[in-house]
Amino acid sequence: MCGIVGYVGYRGAPEILVNGLRKLEYRGYDSAGVAVVFDNEIKIAKTKGKVNNLAERIEKTWSEKLQTKATTGISHTRWATHGEPNEINAHPHLDNDGRTVLVHNGIIENCRALKARLLAEGHTFASETDTEVLAHLVGKYYKTDLIEAVCEALSKVEGTFGIAVLAKDKPDEIVVARKGSPIVIGVGDDETFVASDAAAIVAHTKNVIYLDDGDVAILTAGEVEVRTLENSPISREVSTLEFDADSAEKGEHKHFMHKEIFEQPDALRNAIGGRLDKDKATAILSGLSMSPREMAELRRFIMVACGTSMNAGLVGEYYFEDLADMITDVEQAAEFRYRNPIIGSQDMVLAISQSGETADTLAAIREAKQKGALISGLCNVVGSTIARETGRGVYLHAGPEIGVASTKAFTCQVAVLLMMALKFGRGRRLSRDVGQKLCAAISNIPKYAEETLKLDGQIRDIAKVYAGVEDVFFIGRGYMYPVALEGALKLKEISYIHAEGYHAAELKHGPIALLEPRVPVVALANDVPGKDKTIGNIEECKARNSPVIAVVTGDDPCVDGLADHIIRVPETPDVIAPITVAIALQLFAYHIAEFRGCEIDQPRNLAKSVTVE
Ligand code: F6R
Repeated sequence: MCGIVGYVGYRGAPEILVNGLRKLEYRGYDSAGVAVVFDNEIKIAKTKGKVNNLAERIEKTWSEKLQTKATTGISHTRWATHGEPNEINAHPHLDNDGRTVLVHNGIIENCRALKARLLAEGHTFASETDTEVLAHLVGKYYKTDLIEAVCEALSKVEGTFGIAVLAKDKPDEIVVARKGSPIVIGVGDDETFVASDAAAIVAHTKNVIYLDDGDVAILTAGEVEVRTLENSPISREVSTLEFDADSAEKGEHKHFMHKEIFEQPDALRNAIGGRLDKDKATAILSGLSMSPREMAELRRFIMVACGTSMNAGLVGEYYFEDLADMITDVEQAAEFRYRNPIIGSQDMVLAISQSGETADTLAAIREAKQKGALISGLCNVVGSTIARETGRGVYLHAGPEIGVASTKAFTCQVAVLLMMALKFGRGRRLSRDVGQKLCAAISNIPKYAEETLKLDGQIRDIAKVYAGVEDVFFIGRGYMYPVALEGALKLKEISYIHAEGYHAAELKHGPIALLEPRVPVVALANDVPGKDKTIGNIEECKARNSPVIAVVTGDDPCVDGLADHIIRVPETPDVIAPITVAIALQLFAYHIAEFRGCEIDQPRNLAKSVTVE
């Protein structure tokens, strides 16, 4: 949450910073700010709202000279934790004497105690933020060596941080540090970039250094020196980014979400490509680094995740039980770490996370590691913290996902979980015959996704009918139950319609009291085990006069004359239905949100990667 961009080099920093922030707006968009050092002064511009407001402010209030000749700067786009989203609370924040300035992503947990001490020492604070407390600490320790002051300040801090700091008497230097919040440094020719995510850097350079937790670095034009928080030199390797600037652009699409929904056939092709061994009827997932024997000896498979990634895990649970014959659990990551989970060396804990930065998922995997479990990751963002800390796992290769509502990551996660279940299953009791059928089904997933996208116009028409409703239920059974949860999550987060996903059988245990003509039900009546019972549940909804939008498989006439609207996803093997149905529900949510005039890519109160607990 929150995005940081910094630049030190020979070009005008403000434009580079603002353009970088635009790429990070998905991380937070309630306020934004920039600070540059120029003529031994710190100049700051901050605004409430989106980065465009900041760009306008700079354009109107900063001289041409300042905009083009200030070559060192830091910037921030905010998702508020401490203090309301306004101009005063926006970053960057100055220290007490105005000599240093700082942007921060994360939470300083002991900020109250630190602030009390600083107040007693005579400091005065302008904002309600924890970040300003950290800025004052840095200023307090700053004499002539900025990195020394940063290390000293950070040694007093509990919590998480990704920070970038400038000092007015060090016009050619930025100090950055991380613990729990990502920092990636881009190394160019005579210029250096820093950001919370490589998407803000990739247009300038593909050579990057990912800082580890506990790293601090001094950035100068084209040079990077990494140290530990104890200020001792340490080396970090330079990696090459595998995506280009275009993949983080909207292109001809109105929204990133639209682009990412329609990218799914390609994303799925990338996620699956080269990972099926049809001869051996299994999947090749070398990143798991496990021998068949190790796989066979596993006692339990536990997935930890949040939000959409957890819904993908819930689909995966069916796959692992049905195909890999393994005891499988899916845990809400935030809960897992604070319970006392009974896990040990024969259990594998898989963290599922698009961003690879979700604080609760990261903490859960650390807890599992400490308890001796094998840990692994299923991440999309290459080099992300979870991917690096787990050390083993599978990348999605879905390409950058910028829209705050996760779409292509979900379907790719489901596809990869299916391949993992196939692999573990083949190492255990799954027959070659079933393995071959699964390989064929999986290799057809991109084609099924393409066919599903052809339903766009029809789904849009249905969405138009329901765009004005205030409550919607999504119901399903078996493989379709987690997809109902995901459909409801997609709709609520981008359209602000109250939507709930339920097991179709559970409706009778309470929620049915809410059914009436103004409350439609999206019923997933696909050809998967449990379909007939779901049709019975649709009858119950109709008996309460709720309109029903049914999703069925191909030409199946099972709800003809019963449902008010029918979405017919392509006929597929049942294990693939979660993917096609999820795509149909993404389109449904997208079009409803569009009809309601919502800010689809940046829904209120949300941020793409949730790096705070
Ligand atoms: C919903 C959504 C969130 C994320 C959740 C986990 O559309 O995007 O629910 O799925 O915040 O994020 P990752 O997968 O990055 O760990």
